[in-house]
Amino acid sequence: MIEVHGLTKRYGDFTAVRDLSLRVGSGEVLGLVGPNGAGKTTTLRCLAGIIPASAGTIHLAGHDLTATPVAAKRALAFFPDEPRLFEYLTVRQHLNFVARIYGVRNHETIAQPLLEEFEIADKADQLPGELSRGMKQKLAIACGLLHGPQVLFFDEPLTGLDPLGIRRMKNSILQRARAGATIVLSSHLLHLLEEVCTHVLILKKGEKIADGTIPEVAARFSQGEPTVNLEEVFLRATGGTEG
Ligand SMILES: Nc1ncnc2c1ncn2[C@@H]1O[C@H](COP(=O)(O)OP(=O)(O)O)[C@@H](O)[C@H]1O
Ligand SMILES: [Mg+2]
Repeated sequence: MIEVHGLTKRYGDFTAVRDLSLRVGSGEVLGLVGPNGAGKTTTLRCLAGIIPASAGTIHLAGHDLTATPVAAKRALAFFPDEPRLFEYLTVRQHLNFVARIYGVRNHETIAQPLLEEFEIADKADQLPGELSRGMKQKLAIACGLLHGPQVLFFDEPLTGLDPLGIRRMKNSILQRARAGATIVLSSHLLHLLEEVCTHVLILKKGEKIADGTIPEVAARFSQGEPTVNLEEVFLRATGGTEG
């Protein structure tokens, strides 16, 4: 469960996210959408405790991110849009290292299935420099899942993957949701979001314009038409055509 009230993030005088509230339940996948610069990455970074919020409260799996940051961070995993890896650690050493930081016991029995799920088991002894971008992304995700987080934040997880990689990533996300994880992801690939997300939240210039299930949000911007896809909703909501 994620509960956010009145999240505001300022960079100096500039307000990147303003008074954002949201709630995502266990098993739900919230898609954060909005034009470039809308504040998606800023929101995800605040929710994951990477950068401090200027105002507002954030609860993750029952833990207050400000009052009990260690407990909250133990419950979450954050996957940035650019995977950050250690140049001199192999794939397996990454997993060993992360397991030690998080105090994951019997991590070998967890790491091996993750390597297989993300199809990098045959790269276990290779360095990041020898991996493709998609493989690096998969390694970063395998590392983040090692401690069994209940709350997952993905920034643009489908960008840069090939079609098979996208399908696998979608399945991995859906599988975690079915197992009870609470997930927020951002993406510009709106047709893919429709297949993964139970809910969407549309951001524009740091403010929430609409949120709800995809049919609820679609109904709001449908202008009486029976079916409106998320791309059309996005364009209408963010000013592509008047909505
Ligand atoms: N570290 C920063 N310092 C100052 N401004 C920033 C910083 N990071 C992001 N911004 C600004 O905040 C706004 C939201 O950015 P971002 O959250 O990256 O949007 P999105 O991920 O939706 O494209 C943009 O106007 C961006 O220029
Ligand atoms: Mg971004």
